[in-house]
Amino acid sequence: MEQPAKTSLSDRIRLFPLMDRIVSADSAAALIKDGMVVGMSGFTRAGDAKAVPLAIARRANEHPMQITLITGASLGKDVDRVLTEAHVLKKRMPFQSDPTLRAAINLGEVMFVDQHLSETVEHLRSGQLGPMDYAIIEAAAITKEGGIVPTTSVGNSTSFATLAKKLIIEINLAQPLQLEGLHDIYVPTKRPTRDPIPIIACNGRIGMPYMRVDPDKIAAIVITEQSDSAATLDVPGPDTRAIADHLISFFVEETSKGRLNLMANPLQVGIGNISNAVLSGLAAGPFDHMLMYSEVLQDSTFALLDSGKLAFASASSMTLSEEYAQRVLGNLAKYKDRLVLRPQEISNHPEVIRRLGIIAINTALEFDIYGNVNSTHINGTDMVNGIGGSGDFARNAYLSIFVAKSLAKDGAISAVVPMVSHVDHTEHDVDVLVTENGLADLRGLAPRERAITIIAKCVHPLYREQLADYFDRALLRGGHTPHILDEALSWHVRRKETGTMLSGSLV
Ligand code: COA
Repeated sequence: MEQPAKTSLSDRIRLFPLMDRIVSADSAAALIKDGMVVGMSGFTRAGDAKAVPLAIARRANEHPMQITLITGASLGKDVDRVLTEAHVLKKRMPFQSDPTLRAAINLGEVMFVDQHLSETVEHLRSGQLGPMDYAIIEAAAITKEGGIVPTTSVGNSTSFATLAKKLIIEINLAQPLQLEGLHDIYVPTKRPTRDPIPIIACNGRIGMPYMRVDPDKIAAIVITEQSDSAATLDVPGPDTRAIADHLISFFVEETSKGRLNLMANPLQVGIGNISNAVLSGLAAGPFDHMLMYSEVLQDSTFALLDSGKLAFASASSMTLSEEYAQRVLGNLAKYKDRLVLRPQEISNHPEVIRRLGIIAINTALEFDIYGNVNSTHINGTDMVNGIGGSGDFARNAYLSIFVAKSLAKDGAISAVVPMVSHVDHTEHDVDVLVTENGLADLRGLAPRERAITIIAKCVHPLYREQLADYFDRALLRGGHTPHILDEALSWHVRRKETGTMLSGSLV
């Protein structure tokens, strides 16, 4: 493995007058005051600021304060947990995945704004959010021109750096300088006279390798030396492998009908265990030279790049296990011409997703007999992580696919229900649903046809009869989308009251 060359501070901070602004994390944290709106780098635990956020929490334990925290997506290094425990977070957006923060959100202690990931900076830029007081951004280097070179994610950092009144930069010596050149930083022009975003292929480069900022805005620079939090993913099991197999057979059939070309239609694959397993499954499939235009690259992306199955990957972040972080960050030269990291508003931009003809594969917690998908709320009430980029992709994709295991909690929960308890993706944004039992192709089907297909293909045999019975009785009531309203959420109520969604006669 190629060892990253040792770099000196002058390689990292090339605009020398900025050397005077190097301070400790505690001094930088003291700049953050009660009531401020703060932006932080970080997207799915990659490229996040690592020292100053923890110093803010330490300080808040002595001098209580609260902020609104806006990031790209989830943070690593337990930052969300530590900030929650120090009661720093008044409001948090647009995504999180930390159990402690999740609990505080569900208790109503932290106000969480769950937002499409492409939209946050649009709201900031147009003054519908903010203004932003400080942005705290991890960088691999600051160029001679004062440009900020991001690390393993770009996320919302570019717009935070432009829009925040002041900046704190964390120069992370543990992030290899070879990351420079990997990023493509492009900021859309103002609306309503915006120019088209000129990406016409997923490997298109349209911007700069660094973020342009006014160096006078840099209030403090903190030196850190910590790697990103390692991703932990389950090894694919029989269910996730079956989901991958159904998808591959579907892709083969669509290709043979001339309706799909995996060498031209880029893949987007969402976060989590199921998505990672699906992508791993493609390693064994018959497709070569595939393309990705996604938001997060997990281990499976690099396994596909290594095997030659994947020709190019574009995203906003790389979230890797310890093994893959070593393999990838220690060999960046090997991947550089097949990889690009972009701002999340570009990786997730509806205009680009529609233009490129993306195949979007995201995960559902539950879906209903008509194809509405819930990706975020348990029992329509408790937040899990957030919608993330799934909505950006699902609404605009060439093919919008959702995957789920048909059962959760040892069979006490069916992922296929009469009516979802919360809707993230309406039936109009869902083309294909897949569980380990089968694949429901919903294209061109009316609601009554969708229900028949979903019940036949996706629901677990344990719940099939129960779901068919609900649909049959709903049909007797008529309607375009037949329902029995006083029963539609009874499965969720039964799970709360009895511990299982299975109806009495079937328990
Ligand atoms: N009701 C209650 N709990 C459910 C459930 C349901 N219908 N379906 C799954 N769960 C539970 C599982 O039991 C598991 O719980 P555990 O952690 O206690 O074991 C947990 O939810 C996660 O399920 P898992 O099967 O491991 O799925 P995952 O890791 O693939 O994550 C999502 C699934 C939906 C939570 C995740 O994909 C997500 O947050 N999606 C929204 C954001 C998104 O799609 N972004 C995509 C663009 S990158």
